[in-house]
Amino acid sequence: MAGLTLAVLISGRGSNLQSLIDACTDPAFPALIALVISNEPDAKGLERAAAAGIANQVINHRDYPTKEAMGDALSRAISDSGAELVCLAGFMRILSHDFVEQWRDRLVNIHPSLLPAFPGLHAHEQALSAGVRVTGCTVHFVREGVDSGPIIAQAAVPVHSGDTADSLADRVLKAEHQIYPLAVRLIAEGRVSVVDETALIADSASPEIVLLNPV
Ligand code: GRF
Repeated sequence: MAGLTLAVLISGRGSNLQSLIDACTDPAFPALIALVISNEPDAKGLERAAAAGIANQVINHRDYPTKEAMGDALSRAISDSGAELVCLAGFMRILSHDFVEQWRDRLVNIHPSLLPAFPGLHAHEQALSAGVRVTGCTVHFVREGVDSGPIIAQAAVPVHSGDTADSLADRVLKAEHQIYPLAVRLIAEGRVSVVDETALIADSASPEIVLLNPV
């Protein structure tokens, strides 16, 4: 099924990109990836895009004097690709004000915590230091504050005693790979709207909340 066209922005490994690529191979999935952009020339995710036959491009932040100039270049490339929704998937640059506004409610991010807890870097270390028993991951519309914006989907994941940041990251990543395609599907189906800075999901009991690996 053709559907909502996506641009996916990455900086590294690209496992969330892969979950979107895999979802898009299902003919019933209502979205397709038009373009993958990496700010890092050697990001492994670029190989994933190429292997899937998806157009991919490097827009290296080092080539731009300011984040505004970088944002303009990103915006042009995304618009030229025809993408309607921008998915940040491990994209490690702060976006400019203009970019965030231009793509308002058409720009989503995945973060490995149950926002608003533990935004920013080292989310798993933050969760372990706080001693929480449950953490998870969040897909949200992007606003200018770090990891802020209306929440579309979350998955809850238990913290086990003896967890390290790496073991917890592995468990949460599996959940990320489930909720990113889920959130994109809800948007592509036209079921997500933002009212008073809250994302509302139409026609759903609450499939946007996923509980994984209950203890
Ligand atoms: C993921 O944990 C994502 O939530 C965070 O950065 C990581 C990217 O991993 N924003 P990958 O590149 O998708 O494998």
